[in-house]
Amino acid sequence: MYECILVTGGAGFIGSNFVLEWIRHEASRVVNLDKLTYAGNLKSLASLKDDPRHVFIRGDINDSELVRETLSRHRPRAVIHLAAESHVDRSLATNVQGTLHLLEEVLRYWKQLTATERESFRFLHVSTDEVYGSLGPEEPPFTEISPYCPNSPYAASKAASDHFVRAYYSTYGLPAVITNCSNNYGPFQFPEKLIPLMVVNALAAKPLPVYGDGKNVRDWLYVLDHCEALRAVLARGKPGSTYNIGGGNEKSNIDVVRTLCRLLDESRPNVRLGDYSGLITFVADRPGHDRRYAVDSSKLRRELGWAPRESFESALRKTIRWYLENQAWVEDVQLGSYQEWIVLNYEDRGVSGGA
Ligand code: NAD
Ligand code: TYD
Repeated sequence: MYECILVTGGAGFIGSNFVLEWIRHEASRVVNLDKLTYAGNLKSLASLKDDPRHVFIRGDINDSELVRETLSRHRPRAVIHLAAESHVDRSLATNVQGTLHLLEEVLRYWKQLTATERESFRFLHVSTDEVYGSLGPEEPPFTEISPYCPNSPYAASKAASDHFVRAYYSTYGLPAVITNCSNNYGPFQFPEKLIPLMVVNALAAKPLPVYGDGKNVRDWLYVLDHCEALRAVLARGKPGSTYNIGGGNEKSNIDVVRTLCRLLDESRPNVRLGDYSGLITFVADRPGHDRRYAVDSSKLRRELGWAPRESFESALRKTIRWYLENQAWVEDVQLGSYQEWIVLNYEDRGVSGGA
């Protein structure tokens, strides 16, 4: 039996956490196909530099020839599809066309496996709760049968990719499973996202920009709890099924930022500043800003026995500690030296190589 999985987007925020967790817990190898857009960062995987169980390939999921060659050379028993683009202008190319190209190649590969291999193979498509749209204050969280109602071009592109994955299961029997996850936080997240941005700005004594009235609600999930859920879905999820993954931590943005300021006051007091919450600044709202996201993950808990290990505060403490201890990682990302590093250390080594 072949002993490897293929991860797309494994150098991104969730992907790098997933790859590191996989290597920590599982015996099989990980082949990591990532285009290394600005969001992909091989430094997140630096600890795997000399680990033969991690094979990094720099490439685009739209490059069908590369995907075909990778599948036939490594013969993975599963594909975990995380590669995505959140920027509007690129989300169609990667999230929709890229997923479709990937599905085509995975289907071709899957068809030539033996019957036993075909049965155990999985295509795990990682999606978002944003496909369901926005909830009113009194509405129950989204379930797997809530209608799709994406409000942003990114959410629409993810919704389209979910539909294609489902169609490949229904039409061709490709054993695909879809997960729809709420907002993640944790190590290796780019400081353009709420939690790392607030930590980084607070440490630099810069304003903490809260959009609108700060009352938009997100359901926060610690990234390692997400990774554990993905491993459970891969191992025991039913082909053709969808599983919502949420932390059960609905918080308004202003509550998140205030909690974060309180934890930072404890762990990194700034005597000159007084307390960090004095940096909170309300700024103009984001256009089309969805008011509330929350998912009901009882199906995953009931059927696959998953539950998040972390509470919001325990994981936020861990996240803050990680950013305090890894300021060099943040500085690299911010200064663009990571881009130079890529050119110096990676691009001149050809298309693929170890992390
Ligand atoms: P990310 O932007 O940090 O990482 C995406 C990775 O995909 C990057 O490493 C990038 O280089 C790579 N990539 C982009 N386009 C590619 C292409 N054409 N070919 C190959 N690689 C490509 O994203 P993330 O936050 O880690 O999210 C990963 C997945 O999880 C996405 O599918 C996203 O929709 C989903 N998701 C994220 C969250 C969240 O809170 N971050 C929540 C729910 C779902
Ligand atoms: P973000 O981390 O960008 O994730 P998403 O857009 O996928 O939900 O934002 C989380 C919430 O925080 C969202 O309601 C927007 C808000 N937000 C701010 O108020 N200020 C900020 O500087 C950022 C980045 C986000």
